[in-house]
Amino acid sequence: MNRMKLPILIHPDPRLKKHAAPIADISDDLRTLADNMLETMYDAPGIGLAAPQVGMLDRLLVMDCIKDDGPPRPYVMINPEIIAKSDETSVYDEGCLSIPEQYGEVTRPAEVEVRWIDRDGKEQTEVFANLWATCVQHEIDHLDGKLFIDYLGPMRRQLITRKMQKLKRERARD
Ligand code: NI
Repeated sequence: MNRMKLPILIHPDPRLKKHAAPIADISDDLRTLADNMLETMYDAPGIGLAAPQVGMLDRLLVMDCIKDDGPPRPYVMINPEIIAKSDETSVYDEGCLSIPEQYGEVTRPAEVEVRWIDRDGKEQTEVFANLWATCVQHEIDHLDGKLFIDYLGPMRRQLITRKMQKLKRERARD
C-alpha cells in the first residue's frame, strides 16, 4: 500500500475550531485517509491525529500510544463516542501536532469507555486507561473543535497562540 504523508494544520486555524460531521459510509477514500493519517502520525512522530488536523471535517481519528517498545497498535476510530468515564482523574502534560513544541497539564478522567466503528465497519467498544485514555479524549476533542490549550488559563492560551502565529509567519516566509 502506498501511504502518503499529509500536511498538518497549525493552530490558529478556523478548521481546528469546527465540529466535524459524522461519517455515513466507510468508503475506500475514507480508509485511504485513515492510512495516510497513520503514516502522518507515525512520521511526526505523534500518538494521535484527528481528521480536522489534516483539514478534513470528518469524525475520524487514529492513535497508537505504544512507545518505542513493543509492536505498533494502530487504532482507526470512526464516529468515536465516550460512553462512560471514571470519577478518578489523571493529569498529563499534553502536546498536540497542531501546536508543536508547546505543552500544558490537563486533567481528564483516568479511564474512559469508547465506542466507535472500525475501518472494516464493525462496532467496537473498549476501556482505555492512563495515556491511552488521555489520548483518545484529546483526539475526540479535536472532532468537537476543542484543543488542549482550551483547558489552560487564558494567559497561557494566549501566549501559546502568539507563539504559533509567529511560527506560522516564519514557516510562510521559508
Ligand atoms: Ni492534538
